[in-house]
Amino acid sequence: MSSNGTGPTPKRVTVPWLREARAEDRRIAMVTAYDAPSARLADAAGIDAILVGDSIGSNVLGFANELPVTMDDMVRATRAVSGAAYRALVVADMPFGSYQCNEDEAVANAVRLVKEGGAQAVKFEGAGRALALIERLSHCGIPVMGHVGFTPQSTHALGGARVQGKTRASAQAILDAAREIQFAGAFSIVLELIPAPLARTITGSLTIPTIGIGSGPHCDGQVQIWHDILGLGGERTFRHVRRYANLGPLIRDAIASYALDVQGGQFPTMEHAVSMDLDQLDNLDGDERFPSEAQKEESGEG
Ligand code: KIV
Repeated sequence: MSSNGTGPTPKRVTVPWLREARAEDRRIAMVTAYDAPSARLADAAGIDAILVGDSIGSNVLGFANELPVTMDDMVRATRAVSGAAYRALVVADMPFGSYQCNEDEAVANAVRLVKEGGAQAVKFEGAGRALALIERLSHCGIPVMGHVGFTPQSTHALGGARVQGKTRASAQAILDAAREIQFAGAFSIVLELIPAPLARTITGSLTIPTIGIGSGPHCDGQVQIWHDILGLGGERTFRHVRRYANLGPLIRDAIASYALDVQGGQFPTMEHAVSMDLDQLDNLDGDERFPSEAQKEESGEG
């Protein structure tokens, strides 16, 4: 059975599996992960697809947003995730600047994510000039996930993270972009921060699976940020997030206990250590802090 108990589970979730999931009306569960321990947990939990998002920038690397993230950051994180996820499909984001400037460079960067990172698919934002790249990568055998609505790499142009497509003209533009992305060969598309009725219209107009975030319940699947659903993002909260655990305070309290134990000399104890034949320490050069019995006798301490 699949992770949601409604269908057959393949050894590895694949692009055709996602298409079938949509055709059979099974919802696709996707989450971001940026390192091996998280990928291992997500995989064991039955997640269908992992997004190595460029949101690594704000969630892990300490940047204000995604824009400073480099190809090397993404390749390293993708490698860590793909080495730990045995079932989930691993999709790697192409970071800002890695596909906007030059198409040949963009192809080479996508190839790096697959070849060095071990990704099974790549994702990048927008339509327009990105369409030719979707077409080219699809022909090279690299599956592409599109991304419309709020596109974080255009945060400056869009005036920050805000819902897109609330007017007729902007809704039409997003629907057109989604159709063009499908037509160019994308196997799936992220709909980020658009009104639920628009997400439903787009999902109904396409044949590829739509993966929503902040776009309501009518998409074929959902992607959420690891740190948001696990309470690791500090105090920040978003309307589109359901917090499934609040690990931040748990981790903080655990680390505080550890710090107090170390500072108070309660950890480590001999229980966490290895002993040895003490005779081996006799006459050890330079051992002034813990003198041997012979040294103590010699100095009159013994
Ligand atoms: O980088 C990311 O995490 C994303 C999701 C918001 C879809 O692109």
